[in-house]
Amino acid sequence: ALISLRQLLDHAAENNYGVPAFNVNNLEQMRAIMMAADETNSPVIVQASAGARKYAGAPFLRHLILSAIEEWPHIPVVMHQDHGTSPEVCQRSIQLGFSSVMMDGSLKSDGKTPADYDYNVAVTREVVKLSHACGVSVEGEIGVLGSLETGMAGEEDGVGAEGKLDHSQLLTSADEAEQFVNDTHVDALAIAVGTSHGAYKFTRPPTDDILSIARIKEIHARIPNTHLVMHGSSSVPQEWLKVINENGGNIGETYGVPVEQIVEAIKHGVRKVNIDTDLRLASTGAIRKFLAENPAEFDPRKYFAKTIDAMKAVCIDRYTAFGTAGNA
Ligand code: G3H
Ligand code: 13P
Ligand code: NA
Ligand code: ZN
Repeated sequence: ALISLRQLLDHAAENNYGVPAFNVNNLEQMRAIMMAADETNSPVIVQASAGARKYAGAPFLRHLILSAIEEWPHIPVVMHQDHGTSPEVCQRSIQLGFSSVMMDGSLKSDGKTPADYDYNVAVTREVVKLSHACGVSVEGEIGVLGSLETGMAGEEDGVGAEGKLDHSQLLTSADEAEQFVNDTHVDALAIAVGTSHGAYKFTRPPTDDILSIARIKEIHARIPNTHLVMHGSSSVPQEWLKVINENGGNIGETYGVPVEQIVEAIKHGVRKVNIDTDLRLASTGAIRKFLAENPAEFDPRKYFAKTIDAMKAVCIDRYTAFGTAGNA
């Protein structure tokens, strides 16, 4: 069944678990996520980014998600729009039937320039008004996602802020989080604590100076009734980097957000955990390995089936670790 983000995260907060929000762009990802949810009896959040809408088209994504709901009617599914850059973008998703939207007013509508507080509040309030009138949930963001090591947004191919950011933007303060929730009434709040999008998050396994679980605790203590969201939460599994690099790939040394740190964050109010990169890595690793081992094979279903298996295993791991399992 299609449910709203608020419904799911309220249940998650009452029962102390977190929910991975997986990005979806194609049929294989959608099936992997649902098969994993079905096996572990987990509720699902799937989210469509601007890049996904450009790649697959919003109607295709919508029907992909509706198809999943039809095939697995016993699994609750949130259809979420990831990183909306304007109220108009969010309005379009509401019209298409999304049950949740993110208004990312931390950046201007170009998706690159950090915005000031008043702009963020104005666009987010507008989206909250029109969404709540339709029973749709809203995620907002305060602070700018980026690396505390380099001051950069991280993703090289166009998602996130451009140029160097300062430390205060990269770490959301409890004061501004509280003020923002009071000013906007968002259902869920994305905060900046040192994570960034993509595979290149940390140059070493993260310690609290570059991935601040302490800041999450502080914010949760201040606004205990707000559902927190952690973007850039891929763990960047070393075993998948190895598979990719052993089969013709070339990905440099890099580290993600360890699952144990996410589990700690879930103990302190993080309810929605955004994951895209890990499914990309698993999918690419599985294809590279299969084609390297089966050079005569040319039926795409053979290697796409391997991507489903690989992504499904990652999803099962996260549903289990985050306590999502058993809550469908
Ligand atoms: O927001 C970041 C997600 O990883 C989506 O990225 O725009 O390349 O689909 P994308
Ligand atoms: P990753 O790049 O860490 O998977 O983050 C995805 C994300 O935050 C989507 O909004
Ligand atoms: Na989002
Ligand atoms: Zn994100």
